Amino acid sequence: MASKFLDHGKIERNVTVLAVLSFIAVAIGGIVEIAPLFWIDSTVEKVEGVRPYTPLELAGRNIYIREGCYSCHSQMIRPFRDEVERYGHYSLAAESMYDHPFQWGSKRTGPDLARVGGRYSDEWHVQHMKDPRAVVPESVMPAYAFLADRDLDQGDMREHLIAQKRVGVPYSKEAIEAANEDLRAQATPDADTEGLASRYPKVQFRDFDGNPSRLTEMDALVAYLQMLGTLVDFEAAAPQEEPR
Ligand code: HEC
Repeated sequence: MASKFLDHGKIERNVTVLAVLSFIAVAIGGIVEIAPLFWIDSTVEKVEGVRPYTPLELAGRNIYIREGCYSCHSQMIRPFRDEVERYGHYSLAAESMYDHPFQWGSKRTGPDLARVGGRYSDEWHVQHMKDPRAVVPESVMPAYAFLADRDLDQGDMREHLIAQKRVGVPYSKEAIEAANEDLRAQATPDADTEGLASRYPKVQFRDFDGNPSRLTEMDALVAYLQMLGTLVDFEAAAPQEEPR
């Protein structure tokens, strides 16, 4: 190279020039990665079927976080053949777009739970939560039997929805107003669930914990587990979405 300035030997012997040029090189790389984010509306491609959590699912999710389930379970299926064969379609970014905070996790003492919804019956979940070893003898999961004995009480659910809305979850005014009724209606047999069903497509409503006379923390947790991964219809997805 003809230029004296670009002579490597010189640059590497002058710490100031080396630092300035290194900074410029790294800054260009950084700008190329970061700048496009200022001009695109969203980094997450919308996917049909994804909706905010119902108040009962949200309450279950709060319990999931409170109990630290994430310390043993991930909720993110990576796009690798072994994962897809074991857990189902790899997770899409949109599927956790309403998760605040997200529950992807990286520690898998137990299996990934991103698509556990519908894999087992409610009875199985209740039994498994009460005494994991009763259904999976070699399990190292702790028992959470107390959840079935505790009334679900997380205060005013409207406040939870408002907090979620502040961070971008599109709960309607109506959904916020009805949050406390929706919470009960989802797990109360014979309740009026018309409003709930219109606000939350694919909502599952029934008594989840096997005890219809009470609304317990177990109801909320099982409702949450049973909806995980059930919102997007991968059968109807475009062919390029199918795992190879
Ligand atoms: C100390 C680690 C640990 C913690 C904490 C833990 N689990 Fe587990 N979990 C496991 C292990 C190991 C398994 C696999 C054996 C079994 O099914 O019990 C499992 C299995 C499961 C399964 C069945 C998954 C499947 O596909 O078969 C569900 C559902 C589950 N856990 C939910 C929870 C929930 C909800 C919490 C929190 C209330 C929780 N776990 C906390 C270790 C843990």
